[in-house]
Amino acid sequence: MSTPRSEATQRIGGETGSAALPNRTTRIIGWGHEVPAAVVTNKDLESVVDTTDEWIVSRTGIRERRIAGTGETTASLGAIAAARALAVAGLDADAIDLIVVATLTPDHLMPSTAILVKEAIGSTRAAAFDLAAACSGFPYAYAVAHGFLTAGLGQRALVIGAETLSRSTDWSDRSTCVLFGDGAGAIVLEAIDLPADQVLAKRPGTLSFELSADPAGAYYLWIPGGRATGAAPDETIKMDGAKTYAYATRTMAAVALAAIERAGLTAAAVDLVIPHQANLRIIESVSKSIGYPMEKIFVNLDHYGNTSAASIPIAISEAVAAGRLKRGDVFCTVAFGGGYTSGAFVTRWDADPANGARAASVNAADITIRRPEGAVAAPVPAALRALVDGRRSARETA
Ligand SMILES: CC(C)(COP(=O)(O)OP(=O)(O)OC[C@H]1O[C@@H](n2cnc3c(N)ncnc32)[C@H](O)[C@@H]1OP(=O)(O)O)[C@@H](O)C(=O)NCCC(=O)NCCS
Repeated sequence: MSTPRSEATQRIGGETGSAALPNRTTRIIGWGHEVPAAVVTNKDLESVVDTTDEWIVSRTGIRERRIAGTGETTASLGAIAAARALAVAGLDADAIDLIVVATLTPDHLMPSTAILVKEAIGSTRAAAFDLAAACSGFPYAYAVAHGFLTAGLGQRALVIGAETLSRSTDWSDRSTCVLFGDGAGAIVLEAIDLPADQVLAKRPGTLSFELSADPAGAYYLWIPGGRATGAAPDETIKMDGAKTYAYATRTMAAVALAAIERAGLTAAAVDLVIPHQANLRIIESVSKSIGYPMEKIFVNLDHYGNTSAASIPIAISEAVAAGRLKRGDVFCTVAFGGGYTSGAFVTRWDADPANGARAASVNAADITIRRPEGAVAAPVPAALRALVDGRRSARETA
C-alpha cells in the first residue's frame, strides 16, 4: 500500500456568527426510522466467531444489533423510514423536491437507492441521488440538502441514512463483524425564511456545519468493492481498528466544537449531542475532550451497533420519541467514518415532538421496492441465516 500523501484535512463550514447571516435556513419538520425485526445478540455471535459478550461489551458498549431479513434491503428500510418522516411532517410525497440517501451499502451501483425509495414512497417530482461519505454520510447529506434548499432550488428535502452492513461484513472476521448492524433513519428538511434582523442566538433551525475529509485514512477503513481498479471485487469491510479509533477520538471533538463555535455557541449552551454510534469508549472520550457530560449525549449503540450513515437519523428519531429534544433545544450531531471523513451540524429543534405519533399511520407492509423480473430476494448472510430466520419464524408464529 502506498504512503498516505497528507494528514491535512480540508474543512468546509456553514454560516458563521458574523453580521452577514443569510435570511434563509432549514429546519427539521419530519423524522422516522426503521430497523429490521431480527435481533442478534453478542451471545448469538459467540456461535459465529471466536468472541464473547464480555469482550464486545467492554471494548465497544454494543450488546445487540438488528440484521436485515430475506428481502429487506437498504432501499426497503430507507423507504419505510422516509414514509414515517413524511407522515410526521404531515406531507404528501410530492411536497418533496429532493431525496438524498446517504449509504455505503446501496441496493445497486445503478440505479441509486434514492430512486428506488422515491418510487416506493409515491414521489413523482423529486430529484434523487445517493451520497457516499461512509459513516459521516448523514451530516454530509444534511449539508448538501441544506445548500440545495437555501440556494432556492426547492422547498423540502428528504435526507435519509440507510444501510444493510450485514451484507458487506466478513462474518469470519471477529475484529469487524461484531461492530455493525442494519437500519435506516430519515428526516424532512424544510427551507424557512427568517426576519433579516434575527440574531443567531434566536434563530430556529439549522445553525452551522463543519465537514472534513482526510485521505490519509483511505485504506484504514474501506470496502474494495468497486470495478474501476480491475481487481476482483471484494465487498466486505476492511479495518485497522486502532488507527480508526485514534482518528475518531482525535477528530470528533474538534469537529463538534468547530460547528458549535460557528453557531456562535459554547458547548454548555448545547442541550443534546447526538454522535455517530460506533463505540461507547469513543463517545466517552468525546465527552471528556469537550467537557460535556454523558447525560447530555444520546446513546443507543447498545441496541443497534454501528449502522453507519443510518446511526444519526435513527438516534434523532429515538431522541425525540424519548423526550430528549423539545422545541427550542439546540442539538449537535457529529460523525466520523471511512475516508476518513467527519462531519457535524448544529440545529435548534423547531418541531412539535408530539407529531412523532403520526408515524404510526404508516403501514410498512404497503411500502415495497420494485425488483426486476426474476430477481431473487436479497438473502441473509449464510453465517447468520439460522439466527435471523429462526427469529423471524418465532415472531410470525407468536
Ligand atoms: C475494534 C476495537 C473495538 C478493538 O478494540 P481494542 O481495545 O483496540 O482491541 P485490540 O485491537 O487491542 O484487540 C485486542 C485483542 O482482541 C482480539 N479481538 C478482536 N476482535 C475480537 C472479538 N470480537 N472478540 C474477541 N477478541 C477480539 C484481537 O485479535 C486482539 O487479540 P491479540 O491481542 O491476541 O492480538 C477498537 O479498535 C475500535 O473500536 N476501533 C474503531 C472501530 C470503528 O469504530 N470502526 C467504524 C468506524 S465508523
